Amino acid sequence: MNVVWLSLTGFRSYLELEWRPDEGVNLLIGANGAGKTNLLEAIAYVSTLRSLRSVPDEALVNDDSDVAVIRTGVVGGGRERLVEMELRRAGRRRVQIDKTAVRRSADLLGVLRVVAFLPDNLDLVKRGPALRRDLLDETAVQLWPTSYLDQMEYERALRQRNAFLKLGGRDVVTLAVWDSKLAQAGGKVMARRVGVMDVLDPILAGSYRDIAGETAAVAFTYRTSWGDRSLVSRSAAEMTQRLGEALEAGHHLDYERRMTMVGPHRDEPGFLIAGVDARTHASQGEQRTMALAVKLACHRAIAEITGGNPVLLLDDVFSELDSDRAAALAKSLPPETQTLITSAHREDLPVSGRVWGVTPDGLR
Ligand SMILES: Nc1ncnc2c1ncn2[C@@H]1O[C@H](COP(=O)(O)OP(=O)(O)OP(=O)(O)O)[C@@H](O)[C@H]1O
Ligand SMILES: [Mg+2]
Repeated sequence: MNVVWLSLTGFRSYLELEWRPDEGVNLLIGANGAGKTNLLEAIAYVSTLRSLRSVPDEALVNDDSDVAVIRTGVVGGGRERLVEMELRRAGRRRVQIDKTAVRRSADLLGVLRVVAFLPDNLDLVKRGPALRRDLLDETAVQLWPTSYLDQMEYERALRQRNAFLKLGGRDVVTLAVWDSKLAQAGGKVMARRVGVMDVLDPILAGSYRDIAGETAAVAFTYRTSWGDRSLVSRSAAEMTQRLGEALEAGHHLDYERRMTMVGPHRDEPGFLIAGVDARTHASQGEQRTMALAVKLACHRAIAEITGGNPVLLLDDVFSELDSDRAAALAKSLPPETQTLITSAHREDLPVSGRVWGVTPDGLR
């Protein structure tokens, strides 16, 4: 799978851009602020319907434009498709595939698959659980695009349940209605996360060895918000039932705190290296190795399951790594994969590929 061409109008710093990336490795070199990350962000947006940098759509529209347009030709599964998107500061985004409007933008998911690695992701193991929840949820969308709808549904139900709790009412009948909605969607979200962990676990050790140069027993862990470490399953119905029970058992606390204290938004995924919690026990180097290994494992898993290599986006990652780890990552880059790597300095990249100079006016 790859991006054949990309055209941006009024997207971030680009008033107009036309670009035909190489099928293989593309090295995007440019000064700070030149627009390198903006370019990756546009491609990632087509794949995930959200910003790489977790900002609202309005930030993506050029300050002097009313609308941002992303157009791109994407090859996957042996055919090329034309994707066109319009984002406005206010109002709904519009999406067309091959000149036909899609009913829901989620119908676009799966047309382009990407795995993105940003400097922040190096802290995946070290920081709080939010980054790790995002990793599982994002990977779920890449593997099974309808997961996106369950995640949106969960977020909506959570917002509404929290809004109700915030009012301070103690109406158990109303709360039970929200419990049921939240448990329905939340059970699906949790089951997908377990699905992602099941898929990644067997390949994680190999990816870790590729980066670390030595083997270690590595695995995911998952602690639910109700403190359960082992009883998670790939069955959405089962997870819905357990979450429903936990929500009901937590009514008193929720009333007191005026927010929802259990659910996948508070679960804690983690990693074990050699049997111990990597967040609290692993060295900084091991944690970074693990973070790289997880992303590579995501790429492998998505490639295997969907039958096409996702586009790999590496934003400013090499400059953050020591030379051994940078060399190991360079050697472990997946073959036959369109790869876009950004850096301020060519010499920070121990990788060969087509070199592009990025300036605020475009690419050369
Ligand atoms: N909505 C917008 N309208 C106009 N310009 C924008 C908008 N959003 C961001 N920019 C500009 O884009 C530039 C940043 O681009 P980007 O983050 O892609 O840089 P970069 O090349 O990745 O830099 P670095 O090497 O520091 O990461 C900034 O100068 C910023 O002001
Ligand atoms: Mg950048």
